[in-house]
Amino acid sequence: MYTNFRHVLFIIDFKRKTTNFVPLFKILKFDMKKIILLSGCLIILLSGCYNKKSAPASDYIEEPHSFSKPNEAAITHLDLDINVDFDNEIIHGKASYLIKNNKASQIILDSKFLTIEKVQADGKDTAFSLGDFDEQLGSPLKIDINNDTKQITVFYKTTHKTEALQWLKPQQTTDKKHPFLFTQGQAILTRTWIPIQDSPQIRITYNAKVKVPSQLMAVMSAENPKTKTPDGQYTFKMAQPISPYLIALAVGDIEYKAISNRTGIYAEKSMVEKAHDEFSDMENMVASAEALYGTYAWEQFDVIVLPPSFPFGGMENPRLTFATPTVIAGDKSLTSLIAHELAHSWSGNLVTNATWDDFWLNEGFTVYFEMRIMEALYGKDRANMLARIGRQDLEEEIESFKETPDDTKLKLNLKGRNPDDGMNSIAYDKGYLFLRTLEETAGREKFDVFLKSYFQKHAFSTIHTEKFVAFLNENLLEKHDITFNTNEWIYNAGIPDNQAIISSDKFETVEKTIQQFVKTNTVDKTLTKDWTTQEWVHFVRNFPNDIKTEHMAMFDEAFNLTNSNNSYIAMVWYEQAINHDYHGNDVDAKIEDFLIKVGRRWYVSTIYKAFKRNDKTDVALAIYNKARSNYHAVTTNTVDGILGYKQE
Ligand code: BES
Ligand code: ZN
Repeated sequence: MYTNFRHVLFIIDFKRKTTNFVPLFKILKFDMKKIILLSGCLIILLSGCYNKKSAPASDYIEEPHSFSKPNEAAITHLDLDINVDFDNEIIHGKASYLIKNNKASQIILDSKFLTIEKVQADGKDTAFSLGDFDEQLGSPLKIDINNDTKQITVFYKTTHKTEALQWLKPQQTTDKKHPFLFTQGQAILTRTWIPIQDSPQIRITYNAKVKVPSQLMAVMSAENPKTKTPDGQYTFKMAQPISPYLIALAVGDIEYKAISNRTGIYAEKSMVEKAHDEFSDMENMVASAEALYGTYAWEQFDVIVLPPSFPFGGMENPRLTFATPTVIAGDKSLTSLIAHELAHSWSGNLVTNATWDDFWLNEGFTVYFEMRIMEALYGKDRANMLARIGRQDLEEEIESFKETPDDTKLKLNLKGRNPDDGMNSIAYDKGYLFLRTLEETAGREKFDVFLKSYFQKHAFSTIHTEKFVAFLNENLLEKHDITFNTNEWIYNAGIPDNQAIISSDKFETVEKTIQQFVKTNTVDKTLTKDWTTQEWVHFVRNFPNDIKTEHMAMFDEAFNLTNSNNSYIAMVWYEQAINHDYHGNDVDAKIEDFLIKVGRRWYVSTIYKAFKRNDKTDVALAIYNKARSNYHAVTTNTVDGILGYKQE
C-alpha cells in the first residue's frame, strides 16, 4: 500500500511532465517508427524512475532507536487481530504484515516486554529469536524468511510491564463505572503493545479487528465507529500510510458527538457535552489550517477526551487526537492545544521526522503552525501571548541545560538515550523561534508559499534535518537571495543574535500591574477584571524572585488562585507556592489532590521539580507514593528520575 501511495504521487508528477512532451510530437513528423522509438525511450525512462521510487534499498537512513533493517525487509501493511482482556490486563492476538522483501533471509521487528508465541512466514511456522534486551529499545525479534516471503504473522501477548498501555480501574475514570484503556505510542512505545518495525521512517497502512467487553467502545487512529456494537467487536481501517508511533487505541464507556460533518468528540458520558462546547471551534480550526497550508489529508478530525491520567496535553494520533481533560477550562482558553494537535496533521503525520534526533521538525513546525491558526481565528494579541509564554519556557529550559549545552541544539544526538529526553522546550520553542525568525526575514508571503510547498512535496514521507536544510536553501533562501544563519540555528547551542523579538503589549501591562500591587501592598481588581487565562498565567509566573509570603497571601485572598478551576493557572500557582514557601488557603492539600488526580507529565513534573529545587523532596516523595500508581509509564519514568525514586 505504501508503494502504491508513492506511485500515485509519482503518477501525478509524471502527468505534469507529459505536458512537456507534447511540443516534441508537434515538431516531429507523424512517423510510426519514431513513435515506437520514442515510446520505448519513455518506457525505459519511466521504469528507471519507477524503480527508484519503489526500491526500498537506501531509502531508509540509519537511526539509533529501532533494531529493524528496513533496507533489507520492510513492513508495508499491518492486519491486527486482538482481544482486549480487562480482567487480566493483557492484549492477546496476532499481527500480520505484508512486507517489501529485498531478497532478505531475515526480517527484524522491534519488541519490548511482549511474549511471542509463534511466528509464521507466508502461512507456515518459521523460526524466530529474541535478541539481547536493551533497557530503552527492548529486544529485536528476528524472524527467518525466504527471499520471496511476502507476509509474516506474529502471535503474541502483552505483559504487565508493557509501557504503552494504561489500564484504568473504574475509579480512575470520570464516570467511575467501567474500566478504560488507552495506548501511547510516541516515541518508541508501540513496540510494547505490537511487535513492529518501530521507526518513524516506516509507513504502513493498517486494518484492525479488536474485541472488547460488550459495554465498551473501541476507537483507533483510523476510521472509527460512532456507536457501540452489541458484541464488542470492532473493525478499523487506516487507508493512508502512517508511522508506527501513530497507531493508537482507546477503549472505554465512551460516546460520540459531532461538531461538523468531519469533526467531533469522543468522551465519557458526563464529559461529552462539556468537551463539545469547549472544542466547538474545531471545524473552524480545520478550515483555517487548510486555508494556510493546504487540504487536510485525513478526512476526519476527531478528539477523544481521556481520563486525567493521560500523560500528555494531547497526542496527534491521525483522525483521532487524544487529549487530556485538563484543557477543558469552561471558557475555551486552553484550546490552542487542539490547534497544535491539528497542525500535526501536516507537520508530523504527513511530513514525519525521520529520526527522533530530528524531533524539532515535528514540534517546531507544529508550534509555528499552531500560532498561525490561533492568530487567524482569535487575533494577534492571543497569538503573541501564547508565543511569549513559549519564549519564557525556552529561556527557563536553556537555563536548566546550562551544564549540558548540547541539549539546546535543534538537531540532537540521542543515540543511547531515551528519545523522550528530546521532548522539551528546545524542539518546541527554539524550533518555533527559528521559523518565526525565518518568516520575519523572508516576509510572511514568501514564507507561506515555501511552507505550503514543503508540506506538499514531502506529503506521506519522512524528512531529516539535512534534507530540510537543502529544501530551504533551494526553495526559499537561494530563490529569493536571502542570507540566513540556518546552520547556527540548527547545529549550535543557545539562541542566535538575529532572533525575532516576541513581545506582547498585554503582558507588559501584566508586568506593570504586578509591580504596582507589590509596591502598594494592595490589589486593584479593576485592573485584572478582563484578564484572560494567558494573562493570569503570565501574572503568576512573573512574581519578583523575592516576593514575600504576605504578597502571596494577598494575591490568593484577592484572586483565590489556590482554588482556580483552570488547571494551567493552578499548576503555575502551585509551583510558586512551593518556591515561596506559601501554605495558606489549604494549598498543600490542593497540590496533593492535583498530583494524585492528574497524570499530565508536564504539569506534575513541574510541581515535583519545584519540590526538589526547594529541598522538599521528602514532601514530594510522600505524595508520589500515593500518586504513582495512577500515572502512565511515561510519567513515572520522568518523575522517578526527578525524585530519584526506586521501586522496592
Ligand atoms: N506529539 C506530542 C506529544 C509527545 C511528544 C508524546 C513526544 C511523546 C513524545 C504532542 O503533540 C504535544 O506536543 N503535546 C503537548 C501539547 C502542546 C505543546 C500544546 C503536550 O502534551 O503538552
Ligand atoms: Zn506536538
